[in-house]
Amino acid sequence: MIDLTGKIALITGGTSGIGYTTAGVLKKLGADVTVTGRNREALDKVASELGVHAIFADQAKVSDLESLATQVKSRHGGIDILFINAGISAFAPIEQFTEAQFDDIMNINFRGAFFTLQKFLPVLNDGASVINLGSINAYTGMQNTAVYAASKAALNSLTRTAATELAPRNIRVNAVNPGPVNTPIFGKLGMSDDDIKAFSATMQKRIPLSRFGEPSDIAHVVAFLASDTANFITGAEYNIDGGTNVNPVLN
Ligand SMILES: NC(=O)c1ccc[n+]([C@@H]2O[C@H](COP(=O)([O-])OP(=O)(O)OC[C@H]3O[C@@H](n4cnc5c(N)ncnc54)[C@H](OP(=O)(O)O)[C@@H]3O)[C@@H](O)[C@H]2O)c1
Repeated sequence: MIDLTGKIALITGGTSGIGYTTAGVLKKLGADVTVTGRNREALDKVASELGVHAIFADQAKVSDLESLATQVKSRHGGIDILFINAGISAFAPIEQFTEAQFDDIMNINFRGAFFTLQKFLPVLNDGASVINLGSINAYTGMQNTAVYAASKAALNSLTRTAATELAPRNIRVNAVNPGPVNTPIFGKLGMSDDDIKAFSATMQKRIPLSRFGEPSDIAHVVAFLASDTANFITGAEYNIDGGTNVNPVLN
């Protein structure tokens, strides 16, 4: 049984999807949880629904990340769990991708994740656990995902470097790579319910376990990595994808 009693956790992008569910799971396991987001109404809602702290911070803005680290330090002193989860996606062929889309994705998914880690280095307690939210897209070469996939590949690379840099403080840094997960992220792409259903039906044929992931599938692995049970695991990546990444090309 995973026990996070007494641990202080920060989750970026905790107002919906994987971050929201993980906040609930970590809280249930005993952690004191703070979530971030960039929508004040959604932050108030998550705070009252889950009984967590909620702080406005845009992961694309380094000044917000500095202020976030300062606020968390002044409330808690230090933290034990940092889940860098906030991220966006946009899918288009290389020739159609705009500079603004490129900058948005990279600024949030990689640049913002990097500076979140950097600003929290003085706030992480020795022995803390950092978990980065990657994606199996970092490895799949799926059409239309060039920039999103590259942002996650960069993040996974950071996971490995940070694991060795932070090892002297016994801080572990790992990544989770979900396959498709049922969250509001697809609606945010402008996909209609029908588009999402069609996409989901096509994808499910390629998933050996024949279903999309649920946010709780990811949250429980994050809880494990955050816990002392995982205290010899660092620099690792966990694919949580129902086997998608090992599915044969022909089936
Ligand atoms: N769902 C999937 O199939 C899937 C698969 C692999 C990886 N992922 C990754 O999983 C992570 C969570 O995604 P999700 O599926 O749970 O999507 P989601 O439901 O859209 O949740 C994303 C969360 O991140 C927040 N966020 C986005 N940009 C932010 C910013 N600049 N600053 C602060 N918060 C920000 C969102 O808040 P707002 O609503 O206010 O923007 C929301 O709380 C992302 O990194 C995504 O790339 C998802």
